[in-house]
Amino acid sequence: MRIKAANQESIKEAAILLHAGGLVAMPTETVYGLAANAFDGKAVARIFEAKGRPSFNPLIVHVMDLDAAAELVEIDARAEAVADRFWPGPLTLILPRKANSEISELVSAGLPTLAVRVPRHKVTQELLRMAGVPLAAPSANRSGSLSPTAPIHVADSLGENVDLILAAGPSEVGLESTVLDLSGEQAVILRPGAVTPEDLSEVLGEDVLVEADVSDAPKSPGLTLKHYAPETPVRLNAVDVRDGEALLAFGSIKFMGVKSGGAAANLPEERLRNLSEDGDLHEAAANLFAMLKELDQDEHSAIAVMAIPDEGLGIAINDRLKRAASAAKTDSLKAS
Ligand code: TXA
Ligand code: MG
Repeated sequence: MRIKAANQESIKEAAILLHAGGLVAMPTETVYGLAANAFDGKAVARIFEAKGRPSFNPLIVHVMDLDAAAELVEIDARAEAVADRFWPGPLTLILPRKANSEISELVSAGLPTLAVRVPRHKVTQELLRMAGVPLAAPSANRSGSLSPTAPIHVADSLGENVDLILAAGPSEVGLESTVLDLSGEQAVILRPGAVTPEDLSEVLGEDVLVEADVSDAPKSPGLTLKHYAPETPVRLNAVDVRDGEALLAFGSIKFMGVKSGGAAANLPEERLRNLSEDGDLHEAAANLFAMLKELDQDEHSAIAVMAIPDEGLGIAINDRLKRAASAAKTDSLKAS
């Protein structure tokens, strides 16, 4: 791990590292973020590994401006109004993902929505310009520890798990961005921050709820769908494939059979995905949500999933698979 003062040269180096799948700690006006190329699923998987998160929570994608955001999510009149007023700045918007988006499914943890933000820090802006790709970035701290507002916090918390720390002094706001969910009919603040409910109501011309207020209200599907869960039942620790099942494999399937006869390796394409033939957990994490979705088809009686080692990123993968197996669509997001 290296700490470098942010300047043209170090920002350029950071952009190159990001293109090569590396992780860069970047200053923003809220807190320091741990950034990866949002198009690169394996790089995004490294974020979760570095943070030691036991589960995959969706991440915020940082972009240069509203036009860049509009390439990734559906911008409606409300989103445009708040973006005009508060971007660049400490406001994150949750909006429907565009169907053709090439943002890794791991970034939004399989959800149909995506969190986007245009930061106003000069260094973040310059890094986004040089990198030329959207950057997925949670706060640059180990899971469960305080959010980093100075380069030394990042170094202490993440150590060798970050390739480069761009240092630019203490964070101006010192508090994570306000997260505003505009993906449903009702505008809801999922995380309070420097941009307040009053600020937002004024621009939107409507009441903005704070999530705690909503939890007592009758649940509408839009508000409760916080984890991606397949419709098709999920069977864990499978050592064979039963009639009508699809297989989500991990590692070699050379010796795996199909109950009704034959080898799993000969299953038709629509019934077989392999998270990683080499047993690489980064690759498996990067593929997890996309492959679950591809196998989540009516014609399959279940998705049989092979065992995944419960270590490193495997812990987060297994967490998601267990949730999928219990099909708990109403689980709530854990604070990150
Ligand atoms: O200020 C910030 O927002 C910092 C800097 C680096 O930009 N980033 C940050 O990221 O705090 P993170 O990953 O620590 O927090 C992201 C929050 C989480 O509470 C997450 O659950 C929520 O945003 N979130 C992200 N995508 C979401 C989605 N599609 N639906 C609902 N919540 C989402
Ligand atoms: Mg955080």
